Amino acid sequence: AQRDLAAAPPMGWSSWNKFATDISDKTVREIGDALVQSGLRDAGYIYVNIDDGWQGKRDKNGKLQPNAHFPDMKGLADYLHARGLKLGIYTSPGPRTCAGYEGSYGHIQDDAKTFAAWGVDYLKYDLCSGEAFYNTADTVYGTYQEMGEALATLDRPIVYSLCEYGRFDVGSWGREVGGHLWRTTGDIEDNYNTMATIGFDKNGTPKHTGPNGWNDPDMLEVGNGGMTADEYRTHISLWAILAAPLILGNDVRTMSAETLSLLTNAEVIAIDQDPDGAQGLPVKKDGKIEIWTKKLKDGTVAVGVFNRDTTERRVTVDWTEIGLPEVAKVRDLWAHADLQPAQNGFSIPAHGVQLLKVWRR
Ligand code: DGJ
Repeated sequence: AQRDLAAAPPMGWSSWNKFATDISDKTVREIGDALVQSGLRDAGYIYVNIDDGWQGKRDKNGKLQPNAHFPDMKGLADYLHARGLKLGIYTSPGPRTCAGYEGSYGHIQDDAKTFAAWGVDYLKYDLCSGEAFYNTADTVYGTYQEMGEALATLDRPIVYSLCEYGRFDVGSWGREVGGHLWRTTGDIEDNYNTMATIGFDKNGTPKHTGPNGWNDPDMLEVGNGGMTADEYRTHISLWAILAAPLILGNDVRTMSAETLSLLTNAEVIAIDQDPDGAQGLPVKKDGKIEIWTKKLKDGTVAVGVFNRDTTERRVTVDWTEIGLPEVAKVRDLWAHADLQPAQNGFSIPAHGVQLLKVWRR
């Protein structure tokens, strides 16, 4: 029953990248409203995920309580559900979360029930202080399995996000423990080098990804201000080619029109959400230029021509060399424009991308 919750990579928003632990019920409701008003919800971003920092103490029966910033979790879930959104929450298998809040150690089944009773739809399970107890492949597997089993006994479907920083070959067993996505890396940061290192090189084993079980190269930083528009375009394009979860990390209440347009490009989102769920692969690396392709269900192919250099570069794509000998049509997904199939030369800005969709004869 829990299996079919993530046929395509999950899309939504999380509090962590922008707000860290400075979060409240009020902020989360405002974010929910902004997702609706901006059109982000209708573009597919439906999960509203509270990350670390919501927890209070346990009551005398051991039941986990939210802190004073979250007076009514059930009310918050109802509020989001009434707006066509879903609520995500966060805990750790250890006694403490990374930010030092109460974790689920010794209370796994009870906490799963508590989350379900509140109306939670998504759980991120972050190893943190659990590393003191679970630090071998078997014990890490075991603790993720324990929560997976606890979630499976609930009446409520809950997407299960495994956050153990890509260690212990999680991609090879994430599905077995009930996971719908699993991190492939340590934390992203709002700068090109960290984003590019993860996106190009620490994005997980492609064969592990697919419907209902996704490699997760971490949440988006688009709109947080540390990268140029070209770099953010690369960030989204790369995550789409990887079939990565698209979890926004910015303040969607105050984003610029440019940020919104980067996040709502339906043609790019469709690459990410393609029903086959294939993870794109690099087909050519030539110094700072990388060409990646992702096969799509309808027989077309997404092509990302990435310039990792710090200056603009002119790139000529040899279609045959990258496995596309019979190109019938080429579309530029950021310009929303059909190109001539014979056009294979592109000027790509520093740290930028040319994202194409290619039809074959
Ligand atoms: C580490 C995780 O990797 C981050 O995404 C975030 O959840 C923090 N912990 C919260 O403390």
